[in-house]
Amino acid sequence: MSKEYAAGKITDLFGFVANENNRKASDSMKFASRLERLVDPLIWIMGQEYDKANFELFKDVGQIYELQLARMEFETLKHDLEIFRKRTAYFRKVNGKESYHYFLSSVKGKGQIGHSNQYLTHWFYPYKGKFHGQMIKAIINFMGAFDEDIVLDPFMGSGTTLIEAAVLGTRSIGVEINPALCIVSQIKLDSLKINYPEFSQNIKKGKLSAIFQYFNNSRTYLNERRWQIEVNNQNARDILGELWDNHFPDSFVKDMPFEWRNVLLLIYLHALSDYTYLKGTAKEKSFEEFFYINFEEYSKTLLGTYETFRRLNIKPVDYNVILGSALNLPLKDGSVKGIVTSPPYSIALDYVKNDLHLLNYLGLNTQKLRKEMVGLKGRRAEKIKLYEEDMRRSVEEMYRVLQKGGWAAIVLGDVVVSGKRTDFCKKIIDWAPEIGFVDAYAMKRPILGGFARLRYEHALFLQK
Ligand SMILES: C[S@@+](CC[C@H](N)C(=O)[O-])C[C@H]1O[C@@H](n2cnc3c(N)ncnc32)[C@H](O)[C@@H]1O
Repeated sequence: MSKEYAAGKITDLFGFVANENNRKASDSMKFASRLERLVDPLIWIMGQEYDKANFELFKDVGQIYELQLARMEFETLKHDLEIFRKRTAYFRKVNGKESYHYFLSSVKGKGQIGHSNQYLTHWFYPYKGKFHGQMIKAIINFMGAFDEDIVLDPFMGSGTTLIEAAVLGTRSIGVEINPALCIVSQIKLDSLKINYPEFSQNIKKGKLSAIFQYFNNSRTYLNERRWQIEVNNQNARDILGELWDNHFPDSFVKDMPFEWRNVLLLIYLHALSDYTYLKGTAKEKSFEEFFYINFEEYSKTLLGTYETFRRLNIKPVDYNVILGSALNLPLKDGSVKGIVTSPPYSIALDYVKNDLHLLNYLGLNTQKLRKEMVGLKGRRAEKIKLYEEDMRRSVEEMYRVLQKGGWAAIVLGDVVVSGKRTDFCKKIIDWAPEIGFVDAYAMKRPILGGFARLRYEHALFLQK
């Protein structure tokens, strides 16, 4: 893909977005529907040469950034419409047939909005601040990352990029500094491969109470063993192995196949989060009740994933979850095709505080983690300075590991700290040529609801 061509794809609608800069996020929908009257989205995305009657966007695709991404993925994949049907994130119908995303996003999960998020195992464990899978899928498509290519997420969080890549058939690597999230992501990914009929035959409802009690009683055991784990580029499978071998007491749960006991652990951790956050609200329930409810919900997803993958003949491909740092990536120069990531949004979210229940349960050292995580280091004025240094270093690392011509997509919101906008999106765009990137663009994305303090975030596209 030539530089001019790719850049054109991003900038075409960028003019509209730039003019829209002062608009409220909620006005964006209205603007998009006015835009629709002026510009037919399908023709804008595909051009005149296709028979429009055979194509359809998902009904809820209305935001400008979504249309932009739909066009970007189409441009990369239009040479083979059958491949496009299998990979597209924003089209419901291609060449008169339902797209794969239509079926995949029909495996519904808690908190799902339309076809954009929380489908498949994305919703397992309520991690705050995760990506929308649909958008990530379109970005991977735009990058043209296929079978043997590797997509990297150096701030992996709960593994959204890796799940999308695995389902698309693109290899992936995720680097994350928080061991608890390495565990969560590895389990979400491995759960895509669970043979549900075998799982459900063996994990009978009658056993659930004993399983819950086992995880609950293990708490003291885990706590006594305080888990000193170094950020030394260990693989998450090994970390999980160590957790089971050295931190959980013997029992019938420990004798189960690895993937089964792991997903049961995740159901317990999900219930722990629900119990912690919903205590004192109208949705309050006992911890054990949450465990049973989540077991039911997880089972539906495992069944839906199993059946849908069989129907579409999808076999998730290799992924590698690494406990490491985005500031010092354990990867060779020029080794990845594309990067899709979302670093901590400045000092907006306290990731240690958010998941304290999880970290404490596993016996992890939260003080140590605070000193290592981007955005949590230092105090007051020093904090933002350290954040800036770390962000610069992480973008340099992204540049180093990218292949020539590859894109890094960085999703970031500018937050207000002590009444001042931090403007890190602009900073990254300014750093890009200094670091060596040949192109840098920003795509604006409104945040509707949810993350209250932020109204917009940007997807920054940097090309090496
Ligand atoms: C905004 S979240 C990513 C969420 C992710 N996109 C998802 O969908 O779940 C940022 C993540 O960066 C992680 N992080 C912070 N400092 C890091 C570092 N030095 N190296 C790698 N990960 C780091 C945090 O623990 C957090 O999980």
